[in-house]
Amino acid sequence: MVRVALLADEFRPDVRDDLARRLGIPVAIEGSAYAAAIGAGRDGAPEIVVGDGSRIRVELATRRRSGDSPLLRATGVGRGVHTIFDATAGLGRDAAELLAAGCAVVLCEREPWLAGLLELALQRAGLEGRCRVIRADAIEVMRSREEPRPDAVFLDPMYAPSGKRALPKAPAQALRELCERTPTSESDLLDAARRFAVRRVVVKRHPSAEPLAGERPPNVLRSKSVRFDIYPPLHGDAEPA
Ligand SMILES: C[S@@+](CC[C@H](N)C(=O)[O-])C[C@H]1O[C@@H](n2cnc3c(N)ncnc32)[C@H](O)[C@@H]1O
Repeated sequence: MVRVALLADEFRPDVRDDLARRLGIPVAIEGSAYAAAIGAGRDGAPEIVVGDGSRIRVELATRRRSGDSPLLRATGVGRGVHTIFDATAGLGRDAAELLAAGCAVVLCEREPWLAGLLELALQRAGLEGRCRVIRADAIEVMRSREEPRPDAVFLDPMYAPSGKRALPKAPAQALRELCERTPTSESDLLDAARRFAVRRVVVKRHPSAEPLAGERPPNVLRSKSVRFDIYPPLHGDAEPA
């Protein structure tokens, strides 16, 4: 079922049809029959319009570097990690922080319309030299070995509705409602990531959540609202995480 549509009256007809095709979504006169709609911001860039009318922007360019943030420390940026595979890219907020720190990031997102918004954000940010978006299931991509192996794989999968989230804020809640698919197998995701990463796998969790697939990590980095579980890779040339 298509859950997202493009709002016809917010775009010029030529832009609207091209955008609908790029995102793989229908054009709607009004969005009430859909879980969310794509509207135009003041600058014409697409925005996700959710049920309560609030708008979410997918942006990969950030104003400032976040210095020594828990995400950068957990992923090992500045300590040998330069290339990162963000397997569950979502709205690209974590990726934007990694890009601002100078990393090369591959974003993988299986919701085609969301991957399309990330591609447009990437073009606006002018970061194509060190960032790409893949529209696919990350488990298949990591297992296929068609992509170069990254220093680190970053995972921030959805939680089951009854569980806790790593990002308990409105955009994350909206995202969960919009990305209703068969839940990703936690054990397949973690296993594929650990066989794909060269140096480490980092999983973002709510501080009180169970570890992904029930697998206790050897290293944990905690901050007030988030926990990062750090796993070594599963291959012969593993380095300590
Ligand atoms: C919690 S969100 C990630 C939020 C992201 N870290 C951010 O900063 O915006 C999880 C995302 O992972 C995507 N996802 C879940 N399983 C996936 C898979 N197997 N392959 C690719 N994307 C997946 C969902 O569609 C969703 O957009």
